[in-house]
Amino acid sequence: MIVGSIKENINLEKRISITPESAKNIINLGIKVQIEKGYAEHIGISDKLYEDTGVQIINSSKEVIENSNLLVKVECPDDEQISSMKKNLILVGMFNPSKNGGKLKDILKKEVKIFSLELLPRITRAQSMDVLSSQSNLAGYRAVVDSVAEFEKAVPMMMTAAGTVPAAKVLVVGAGVAGLQAIATAKRLGAIVSATDVRSASKEQVESLGGKFLTVEQSEDMETSGGYAKEVSDDYKKKQAEMMQEALKKNDIVICTALIPGKPAPKILSEALVKLMKPGSIVYDLAAEQGGNSAFSEAGKTNLINGVKVIGVKSLMNRLPVTASSLYAKNLFSFIRNLYSKEKKEFNINLEDEIIDKSLIKEEA
Ligand code: NAI
Repeated sequence: MIVGSIKENINLEKRISITPESAKNIINLGIKVQIEKGYAEHIGISDKLYEDTGVQIINSSKEVIENSNLLVKVECPDDEQISSMKKNLILVGMFNPSKNGGKLKDILKKEVKIFSLELLPRITRAQSMDVLSSQSNLAGYRAVVDSVAEFEKAVPMMMTAAGTVPAAKVLVVGAGVAGLQAIATAKRLGAIVSATDVRSASKEQVESLGGKFLTVEQSEDMETSGGYAKEVSDDYKKKQAEMMQEALKKNDIVICTALIPGKPAPKILSEALVKLMKPGSIVYDLAAEQGGNSAFSEAGKTNLINGVKVIGVKSLMNRLPVTASSLYAKNLFSFIRNLYSKEKKEFNINLEDEIIDKSLIKEEA
């Protein structure tokens, strides 16, 4: 069996799917690995490093696609790549089915089996494959680092002979994977951190990281049985806006991460709320690509509103592609290991395995 990978369009996507370390692990399963020439040079990993672990370097992406039994990617393949795919190829990546439905249908017509890892069930056995968690964790960290770089004041409290500099205040909206990492990172930098979320279970997690939890007075818990947030009622939105009014006047940096899977990002910071913030403050919106948690967020843009910088994030993982790739490649390796039968020496699409069944894109998708 051959696992292959080809270059992404590096102007849009700098992450890679196979690192020398993950290649070694795949080869140890008894599988061959092939990559396109110059595969990871843009992030400083030479072909030689791959060759040293036993990877075969192939001159063209077309050849890699044709040779592979399983092809790993980050982004959805383009039309030319699709045209090289043969029947029974297994394609694994993060294909964002709600955005790339048309392309994925074209691939399915070629009788290719597509696995999109955002669809993995969030069960214990799938944790090592959970691409959403591995990437969001980094997003939360990077959101704070970027915001602090844009913030024109110091973050930690400093007591100097010239006087005391107060600590900056950071508010994290949405305390999921990215939010919790943002809280931890902001605390490490010395900020005074608070956070809010619709799931009351997150209060304990926020507090365990040293953050203050801002509760919206509401009797009903907004958590689904699967552990995700529910869409909130108009009454809840009103109460949340009242709570935010006070919080936004006091905070210097607001990191927005609120998300309900499969839905546009909830709008939490209305125009009026952003305008309450102090000039020089920052809104960093991780949800900008899903429409944004703030009224002024636009993906890939920074908008200046009454002196407040509203930063709409786009392709954040391109700012730390080495770490993001390292974690993504580990996620992919765990998925491949689960799919591979060592006895039969082939990939075994066993739909009784919840991990395989849920991540497989079906015809009706
Ligand atoms: P998550 O599902 O773990 O966390 C989202 C949190 O928002 C949950 O705790 C949820 O309860 C909370 N929430 C939902 N509605 C809310 C509301 N109305 N008010 C307050 N809290 C609310 O999601 P995760 O993985 O942390 O991702 C966060 C955001 O970061 C997403 O928008 C995601 O797409 C984005 N992201 C962006 C990346 C990029 O490269 N631009 C990379 C990774 C994540």
